[in-house]
Order: sequence, then structure tokens, then C-alpha cells
Amino acid sequence: MNCPQSPALMPCHGREALWNKRLKAEKRFGLRLEQPPYRLRMGHVWRSNIISLGLRLLGVYGWGVRNALELQMREETFCFPDLPDALRGFRILHISDPHFIRNDGRLAEIAAECVRGTEVDLCVLTGDYCWGHFGPQGFFSEPLGQILREIQSRHGVVGILGNHDTHEAADVLRDLGVKVLINDGCTLQHGDADLWIGGTDDPHKFLCASVALAMRDAPAEGFRLLLAHTPECAVRALDYEVDLYLCGHTHGGQVCLPGGRLIQVNARCDRAFGEGKWRLGTLQGFTTKGMGTTDVPVRFYCPPEIALLTLERQ
Ligand SMILES: [Fe+2]
Repeated sequence: MNCPQSPALMPCHGREALWNKRLKAEKRFGLRLEQPPYRLRMGHVWRSNIISLGLRLLGVYGWGVRNALELQMREETFCFPDLPDALRGFRILHISDPHFIRNDGRLAEIAAECVRGTEVDLCVLTGDYCWGHFGPQGFFSEPLGQILREIQSRHGVVGILGNHDTHEAADVLRDLGVKVLINDGCTLQHGDADLWIGGTDDPHKFLCASVALAMRDAPAEGFRLLLAHTPECAVRALDYEVDLYLCGHTHGGQVCLPGGRLIQVNARCDRAFGEGKWRLGTLQGFTTKGMGTTDVPVRFYCPPEIALLTLERQ
């Protein structure tokens, strides 16, 4: 892969300013504390406990926990009229929102089994590697590494940060050999085709995403892929002629009505962007349900997934 190394702190005023904004926000929110008092979302924690209690009283908590571990491999194909010949059949493994829980390796074991021997051209990670918002995050190296070791990816693994990830997560990813994109991008050469991969920082909580920086150096020709943690950059992506936009964060609703109907999106966007494939003008996008859970470790009518995406010509 033709990528510059250590993109996070490249000498670029805009990029550096956004990174500093993130670091200040992490400090302000108290995200690095291991114990209360946290400044962020203590109400959130109480709400989670109340929901858990309600589900237990209704007798469906255990069912929801079992659902959350029924990981599926979801396959989708995206067709583009101008896709270069070399990219026909290009396969991307999309992993998002594992939200690994400390000292609980069940999800990693299930996911490793799910992807074992999978051969793809590229693997992408779209953020949220840990459960909760607080404390050191180094522990996720083990469960994520367990999964990545099972994947055979021709062009390696590219990852971005989500709203649950501190700057420490970027170092953990790099130590695992992941190419981390933080408001940056790189060109991947596949046969005689160029594929630009742009990756933003988190657009949801840290508000540090810059599609402009992620796409700034994209060549005029070639396929344009953008990774963002949430669908909230979709409109901006249109301005930069992005072909495919991959994101997660919503968990597909996590707790849905029968038939998979979303109750909530948990992002500042229309419900249409909350799950699965979507279109915005010429832009095609995909919001994965992701692997894990947040707040309450349950899922209803919304199975966790790892997505296997194939590019084709229309
Ligand atoms: Fe998220």
C-alpha cells in the first residue's frame, strides 16, 4: 500500500488543530479517568442501569444478551458505472463498533471464528473499539488482534477512530499493524487502478471530522472511498465526489422493532442513513450494524454483523 506513515500528526495546520481539539476534549470530558467522578454522561450510566433493570423485570434481558452474540457475516454488492476494470470484484471486509468489554473474550472468539480464512482485498475498521467511554483502552489490542490474525487482507487493514475512542486507541491500532487515518488519506494501487481511502476523525462527540482533509490529496481520477465513524459526514462527502462511504456507530438501532425497524438512530442524520445501504445523489453508502453493543449489552431484532462488501460495475 502506498501510504505515508504516522498520519495523525503530519505537519498540516488544520489537521494539527483538530487533533489538539480532540486531546482537549478528552481531558475536559475526563475520559482518561478510571474511576468517577466523570464529567461526561453519569446520567447516561444511570439510564443504562434503569434500562437493564427494566429488561430483567420483563424477563427478556438474557434473550437480548444471547442475540448480541449471534454474529453474522453480511454480504453486500455495490455497483458503480465508472468502476475501473481492476476494481471489479474488489472485496472489503468492514468491521465496526466491536465495543470490546474488558475481561470478556466471548465476542472476539465468535468474531475470529466468523472471519477465519476470509480472503479480501482490504479490511476496514470504522471505530468504537471499547465498551463505555472511560479508562485506559490498551486492553482491546488482544481481542482485536485475535480477529485480525484470522483475516487475509491483500492490502492490509485501515482504521479510523470513533466517539468511544481516545487518542490511545490510535496507538493500539498502529501497534497491531493497522494503517490509521485521522483526517487523512492514502492511495492504494490495485492492478492499474488507484483507490483513494480517506478517513475522518469522529464527527459525533469530538466533532473533529474533516472530510476536506481526508479527501484533500485524492487524485482527480480513481475510485474514492471514505471512512467515517458515523453517517453524519455524508452531505460533505458529496462535495468531494466520494464514490463509497462506509460507517457504523448506529448499531443499526441495536434495539429494534420486529422486522428490524429502527426506534432510534443515535446520530444527527435521517433514519434512512441509520442502517444498511443508502444513496445520496451520486454517493453510495453503507452503515453497518456493527459487532458490539453500548449502554446495555443486548440486541433485539438487529443482529450484530461483520460486512463483506464487493465492488462491481453497473
Ligand atoms: Fe460510536
